[in-house]
Amino acid sequence: MLKLFIIVFFPLNMLMANDYISQRQDSMQKFNKLMRSANQMIKNNEINEDLSQIYTDIENIMIEYPTLFPDDSFKGKTKASEDIISNREKFNEISLQTAEIAKLASFAAANKDTKLLQQSHQNLYSSCKSCHSRFRN
Ligand code: HEC
Repeated sequence: MLKLFIIVFFPLNMLMANDYISQRQDSMQKFNKLMRSANQMIKNNEINEDLSQIYTDIENIMIEYPTLFPDDSFKGKTKASEDIISNREKFNEISLQTAEIAKLASFAAANKDTKLLQQSHQNLYSSCKSCHSRFRN
């Protein structure tokens, strides 16, 4: 019953700007944690389905990410730059590119392609800077 309540009412709640802010900050915390887990697994040479799933989780975060920045969500406890509003195409493009790199990393892990894995893992780290330098205050 409680579960049903949460499922039914959560989306309504999400309409509020503050929830967008905390949701996107949560997404970034998760992204950060997932990257650290991936680092650890690569270090331990655990190139397997679990690692592949980590990158799929990252892919899904990045597919959803650009939807968490409605025009009225740039006030208050956010470090998101208002440049996002006027440069949505670029912001969406970086998000989508990051999702695609994560998909490639997932594929590489599932196929134990270590070279492609290391390359795409590194590219994921580069994505942090390319987005933050432009769209985070
Ligand atoms: C497509 C753009 C984009 C990419 C890619 C991206 N970030 Fe972010 N990140 C942001 C924005 C925008 C914020 C500010 C969000 C806010 O405060 O509303 C942010 C905030 C953060 C925060 C602070 C979260 C908080 O609790 O306030 C962390 C940590 C973070 N990013 C880590 C990362 C890491 C690590 C990567 C790469 C592995 C990364 N980000 C990639 C756009 C991005």
